[in-house]
Amino acid sequence: MIGTDIQYAKELLVKGEVVAIPTETVYGLAANAFNEEAVRKIFLIKKRPLHNPLIVHVRNVNQLRLIVENIPGKAEVLLNKFTPGPLTILLPKKDSIPDIVTAGLPDVAIRIPHHPLTLQLLSEIDFPLAAPSANPFGYISPTTAQHVESMLSEKIPYVLDGGPCAAGIESTIVGFKNDKAIIYRQGIITKEEIEEVIGSIEINEQKKIVASGMMDSHYAPHTPLVLTDDINTVIKKLINNKVGLITYNEYSDLLPKDQQIILHTSNDLALAAHNLYASLHEMDSRKYEYIIVKKLPEKGIGIAINDRLSRAAQK
Ligand code: TXA
Ligand code: MG
Repeated sequence: MIGTDIQYAKELLVKGEVVAIPTETVYGLAANAFNEEAVRKIFLIKKRPLHNPLIVHVRNVNQLRLIVENIPGKAEVLLNKFTPGPLTILLPKKDSIPDIVTAGLPDVAIRIPHHPLTLQLLSEIDFPLAAPSANPFGYISPTTAQHVESMLSEKIPYVLDGGPCAAGIESTIVGFKNDKAIIYRQGIITKEEIEEVIGSIEINEQKKIVASGMMDSHYAPHTPLVLTDDINTVIKKLINNKVGLITYNEYSDLLPKDQQIILHTSNDLALAAHNLYASLHEMDSRKYEYIIVKKLPEKGIGIAINDRLSRAAQK
């Protein structure tokens, strides 16, 4: 069921149930982060491996302090600058956070989401919410309540509807080693924006490169996705197939327009991010044989978008 009833969402969460919640990035699949059994349900519903830890959502920095051992200076600066907002930080957890949440790791991922409904909900409950993106493991993340409902309606009692997500791709994840800050997942907040406030930062996307040099398949539609700089060559190669095309800001002459979605007509990468997952959900529902996507400019938020697309192209 989809609705805007915060009290009902609260009742379910207090009982240890799982509820989908809106955030500014993507919808989350939330449960009481202090309740191991409730958190276990998230993994079962998503079919997510237990070794993949969850992000804990809190209402403010005071609540954050209650669940971590300490906050390094650079983390304080980032929290001041970017929260509430699409920033996740990794900090040493207190015992109140069960091991299932962090998959046994000493650090817990935490963020303060910037969405009025979810902040209201968090202010009315006395526990933080563990929440991964509200999609089956490996599939496209949801940016509307309807996306969640179409993927998980039989498995969860309620989707709290906060409208389409403003940002549209996941938060940027930052961790700290000694006094060094490291980006573990690129997202809506760019490397440059972070460097403006805490100086140079390195990127360590471990999951991007596994030993064999292949990438994790993630964010992926059921339809095979081809990511390319050269859409003309790919379209010609697939001339005998039914294909859909997603581009940044211009149509191709080689396909009928009704087989194409452009992410945004202007040169605005943030708006392209906002439309990215909805476009992938839409294309996947059309049951083409292939979805062709033109790579976006590799700058600013385009870097995080291309990262999602390159994982979506892995099968
Ligand atoms: O924007 C977002 O971050 C959304 C919304 C719902 O908040 N959440 C989200 O969660 O993207 P999820 O579970 O789809 O992705 C979380 C990522 C995973 O790649 C996980 O491995 C990583 O965060 N992560 C979580 N806890 C971690 C930890 N303790 N150490 C390292 N990585 C961690
Ligand atoms: Mg996810």
